[in-house]
Amino acid sequence: MRRKVIAGNWKMNKTPTETKLFVEELKAVSQNKNGCDIVICVPFVDIACAVEGTKGTNIKVGAQNVHFAPSGAYTGEISAQMLLDCGVEYVVIGHSERRQYFGETDETVNARVKAALEAGLKVILCIGELEKEREQGITAEILGKQTKIDLLGVTAEQMKNVIIAYEPVWAIGTGKTATTAQADEACGLVRGVISSLYGKETAENTIIQYGGSMNAKNASELLACVNVDGGLIGGASLKAPDFGVIINAAQ
Ligand code: PGA
Repeated sequence: MRRKVIAGNWKMNKTPTETKLFVEELKAVSQNKNGCDIVICVPFVDIACAVEGTKGTNIKVGAQNVHFAPSGAYTGEISAQMLLDCGVEYVVIGHSERRQYFGETDETVNARVKAALEAGLKVILCIGELEKEREQGITAEILGKQTKIDLLGVTAEQMKNVIIAYEPVWAIGTGKTATTAQADEACGLVRGVISSLYGKETAENTIIQYGGSMNAKNASELLACVNVDGGLIGGASLKAPDFGVIINAAQ
C-alpha cells in the first residue's frame, strides 16, 4: 500500500514571522492525522522557523530547490548538505516555474536529483506537459522523456526516496484543474515508465502525486484516483484551514 503524501509548495510566499504563525495553525489542524505524510516546502529563509515549529509533530519540512555541487563558488546557491544540516527532509526539484523562469533543463534537474539523493534528502521531482503539448497529443512522450532524463543514473534503491509530482503546466496556478481521468491517466503513464526503467515492484511502490490547482473542493476526487498518491499544492497550501481539508481528504 502506497502512503499518500500531501505536500505544500509555498513558492515565494511567507516571511519567517508568518511561517511561525502558520505552523501553529497547521499543527492544530493536522493533529492525529496519521493516514498520510504531511510536508511543507518553504523558502530557504523560513526553514529554521519551520523546522523549529514542527519539532515533535507529524509535519515534515522541505526546500524548493537545491544545487547539484556539494560546495564551491556558486554565489547565491544552497547545497544538499546545508539543507540536511538545517533539518530539511524533502526537496522539490524541477518545478515548472524553475524550468520556465530560471533556465532549468532535464539535465540540470537530473544533476540536482542525484546530488540530493546521494546526500540523503527525499526528492519531490516535478514533471508535466505544457498546454500546447497536450493539444498536440504528445503528453505521454513528454512525460516519458522527462521521467527518463530526470532519473538517469538513479538506482532502484534510491527510488524509495523519490516522489514524482505530475503537474500539468497549464493547471499550475491557473484554477484550471486536470479532470480525474486526465490526472489518473497521466500518473498511470508515469508509473508505466517507472516500471519499464525499474520493474513492476518499484513502480507499484513509487509515490506519484498530482499537482495543479488542487484545492479544498477538488482534492477528495483527485486523491481517490488509483494512480494518484497525494498532492503537491501551491495556492491552497498557504491557508492552514484549506490545507487541513486536503489533508483530511487524503486520510
Ligand atoms: P497550484 O500550484 O496549486 O497553485 O496550482 C501547484 C504547484 O505549483 O506545485
